[in-house]
Amino acid sequence: MQKIGELYKTADWKTEKHVPVIECPDEVQADQVFQVKVSIGEEVAHPKTTEHHIRWIRLYFQPDGDKSSYEVGNYEFGAHGGSVDGPNMGPVYTHHAATAAMKIKKGGTPHATSFCNIHGLWENTKAVKVG
Ligand code: FE2
Repeated sequence: MQKIGELYKTADWKTEKHVPVIECPDEVQADQVFQVKVSIGEEVAHPKTTEHHIRWIRLYFQPDGDKSSYEVGNYEFGAHGGSVDGPNMGPVYTHHAATAAMKIKKGGTPHATSFCNIHGLWENTKAVKVG
């Protein structure tokens, strides 16, 4: 039986539209707040339609040498163009990007995960050092 972790796909975000792109400094100061932006389709746009869209992004942080992961944020995207007039006739679509503000005591790895309603689970990571 497959474990859930084995279902997360990853690839080069420059060519694969589902991979969450993590934008944050490579190095930060301890206990100083910095921003982490996570978006989908930075280079190759992902569709935003009632039938095909990104449902959520989650951001975790794993400090170097720590076996636990810590949840930083959970971002749900609820508007996908649905309305009483039919699919894609609605007035609003949520854009699939989120920005977290966080501070850390030591370096580690932000992990971003995302879910496409058709293409499933995706993940990406980026190292952050504390200088
Ligand atoms: Fe998709």
